[in-house]
Amino acid sequence: RDLYGAARRNSEGFNFADEAGVAALAQALRSAAVPTQAASLLAEGLPNSGPRYAITDPSDRRRRFGEWMALDVATVPAVLSAAARAQPAWAATPVALRADALDRAADRLEARRAEFLHLLVREAGKTLPDAMAEVREAADFLRYYATHARRLLSTPEVMNGPTGEHNELQLHGKGVFVCISPWNFPLAIFTGQIAAALVCGNAVVAKPAEQTNLIAVQMVRLLHEAGVPATVLQCVLGDGEVGAALCAGVGIAGVVFTGSVEVAQAINRQLAARPGAIATLIAETGGQNAMIVDSSALPEQVVKDAIASAFHSAGQRCSALRVLYVQEEIADKVEQMLRGAMQELAVGDPGLLETDVGPVIDDAALARLKRHADELRWQGRIVAEVALPQACAHGTYFAPTVARIEDIEQLDGEYFGPMLHLVRYRAKDLDQVIDAINATGYGLTLGVHSRIETTWRRVQARARVGNCYINRGMTGAVVGVQPFGGEGLSGTGPKAGGPHYLLRFVTERTLTVNT
Ligand code: SER
Repeated sequence: RDLYGAARRNSEGFNFADEAGVAALAQALRSAAVPTQAASLLAEGLPNSGPRYAITDPSDRRRRFGEWMALDVATVPAVLSAAARAQPAWAATPVALRADALDRAADRLEARRAEFLHLLVREAGKTLPDAMAEVREAADFLRYYATHARRLLSTPEVMNGPTGEHNELQLHGKGVFVCISPWNFPLAIFTGQIAAALVCGNAVVAKPAEQTNLIAVQMVRLLHEAGVPATVLQCVLGDGEVGAALCAGVGIAGVVFTGSVEVAQAINRQLAARPGAIATLIAETGGQNAMIVDSSALPEQVVKDAIASAFHSAGQRCSALRVLYVQEEIADKVEQMLRGAMQELAVGDPGLLETDVGPVIDDAALARLKRHADELRWQGRIVAEVALPQACAHGTYFAPTVARIEDIEQLDGEYFGPMLHLVRYRAKDLDQVIDAINATGYGLTLGVHSRIETTWRRVQARARVGNCYINRGMTGAVVGVQPFGGEGLSGTGPKAGGPHYLLRFVTERTLTVNT
């Protein structure tokens, strides 16, 4: 039961140690019917044409397995108008029916898991365990927001007052939401944004990241099959120009955006400059996430958690660890164990179960990481580096790397990949360490490894971060259990998968009746 007393279950896990289960999964993946063509899904009658682009596999760029078609940016206003026309009827549909559609979508998603796993591995380069976790997270978002919407929106809150009148507070959908989602969670974040907006009675125009259109279109089709009308949920494919045209749309009620802080700030400026109603912006952006390890910590646990937080998912989570602060007394030991543990990391084809680290998303991401690592190499700062196997030669692989730096302020932004920076600190400087982390302006995740409760409480009290993890890894927030999202440069809130998220998607109206 959650905060509001509603019954809800999270999606079931998958046991990768169960050989028979894994064999059945492999078979299901082989026989899954997956689409190879992606085009925008628009309201009936709208023109749908534009340039076409190849879809390639990040683990081997020679493998071109599909094609997507961008939408002509001139069509965007018509898409938004169709959404605006469809929204009132959707808002008038009882919330229970809207929520039922999300629940049906969650059930269908689980039933068709294999095809989504296949797409997540081939189009997004996700390892199988990451892909599995992502399908589960998408289903969890659907059910969580469905449950919350039923509780929040079904009945208005009656507010008794001294006047003898009947007062009630009602929550209504705001209008049309534009949902712009990232490639690093092309199913979970994409679905979470859409589900929250829809269940509150908004119409949605979703624009997925260009790198992961097949997954997005497949999910939108599934939501349509589950009962969301095609005009209430449209999906538009394109680049930043299309995204900007959507955000410039006259009359949109809000934008939900997950991606870089620079784009979030540009959207914010764009929304502010438009005439007419003030639109809502819900933005989830990056992080410069640190883990602080004091001398009371268990080095084995630290290394295990640091490796998983920095390198799994190829470091392409906004929650991933970027800077590991280790108290000088145990720094040599941690460094040595880290070097050893990195030699165990299997980098390779994300479709193989033994793979720990798959490719990064594209050439641009790879080039940025390589430039950074090369510079650190010139400065003699590399502590450990995994040798890339020959099989990785044609993919966008970046070898997991650890480099020593003086402090977090030395980094000129987020390095979104399997790249970890190490800093040694003295016990007496702990407050300055936290201040330096705060001074980056980001505030997403923070890890602390310490067996001294007063230490980790002191760190948490001083740190300005959205998700603080003590004595564990710092990725993989669970929907409805660890509401996720940051502050400062990391996002506007409210937290995804938390009890306050839906409140940003609704408008409040008070009805007063003189009885
Ligand atoms: N929600 C993800 C996590 O917690 C990050 O985007 O790792």
